[in-house]
Amino acid sequence: MKETTSASASATKTLELRAPVSELIRRRYSCRTYRPEPIAAAQQRRLTELMAAHVAGPLGAQARFALVAAAPGDDSALRRLGTYGFIKGATGFVVGAVRRAPRDLEDYGYLLEQIVLFATDLGLGTCWLGGTFTRGSFVRRFGGLARDETMPAVVSLGLIGDDGGERIREREEGSRRLPSSELFFARRFGEPLDLGAVGAYAQALEALRMAPSATNKQPWRLVRDGDGGGEGGGAWHFYLRRSRGYGKGSALFSVLRIADLQRVDMGIAMCHFELVARERGLAGSWVVRDPGIPLPGKDTEYTVTWVAE
Ligand SMILES: Cc1cc2nc3c(=O)[nH]c(=O)nc-3n(C[C@H](O)[C@H](O)[C@H](O)COP(=O)(O)O)c2cc1C
Repeated sequence: MKETTSASASATKTLELRAPVSELIRRRYSCRTYRPEPIAAAQQRRLTELMAAHVAGPLGAQARFALVAAAPGDDSALRRLGTYGFIKGATGFVVGAVRRAPRDLEDYGYLLEQIVLFATDLGLGTCWLGGTFTRGSFVRRFGGLARDETMPAVVSLGLIGDDGGERIREREEGSRRLPSSELFFARRFGEPLDLGAVGAYAQALEALRMAPSATNKQPWRLVRDGDGGGEGGGAWHFYLRRSRGYGKGSALFSVLRIADLQRVDMGIAMCHFELVARERGLAGSWVVRDPGIPLPGKDTEYTVTWVAE
């Protein structure tokens, strides 16, 4: 057992939302078509305030974010920011950077997903962009990066433009998720987790399953350790199961210099899990301490543990 990083939950500030976070997680989907009206000034202000307040990740990395938004009547301003045509009419982007640290990409995912859920609470549509954006032009709009910073991904946002039909279709496509039996295990990989025996953690797991991930690969795997039944005590170990084509050594990673997006996915999943756990009154904290559970293959690596109190 080697402890590399430890951070208490109190390192992250509480996210103030109007709607229950579990409902916002159900409501969120990748919105790729926006209405031309700009994001209201009051909403822009609230987003900017939130971004300024949540810059310390739960695993010790520091990030910073900015809102790049179109001004009223200026709907062409953001067109030059390249998104390769996948995103239509976004009137805003959340851009950001994280300082290099052992769990920088996970922390970036965690912090930016908080902003996504806050934007969802404001009624805005959002879409994570990790591959299909021209990094150079976004970095310029951000005012450049420090030597030890990276910009792993950005998020488009704006007033939802797709009509109900498209939205429902998107939601259905987007909610295609792996079954719990392939994601969550008890004590060791391959041993099914009885969701009926984990109390309110079942809702935290469902929120995690609904998390967005790059090309919907859902690379997260969890092993529940500890005292068996009930929700008290125990630990949840988070593992990353890499898909081919992602991660160090892959062409995407080295040639296109795309960030290790599946580690960003992991941070997003941590965010969903923790926010819903806390909403259900379940306390805990994050620690990086590999429990040494045998891995199912070379494509799987340990990331972090949620220690339940
Ligand atoms: C880190 C990350 C990067 C992503 N990059 C892109 C992207 O470059 N272009 C895009 O259209 N969608 C992108 N997505 C959105 C995913 O395709 C989407 O989250 C997934 O298919 C699940 O659908 P849902 O978000 O509607 O639930 C990205 C998502 C994540 C988490």
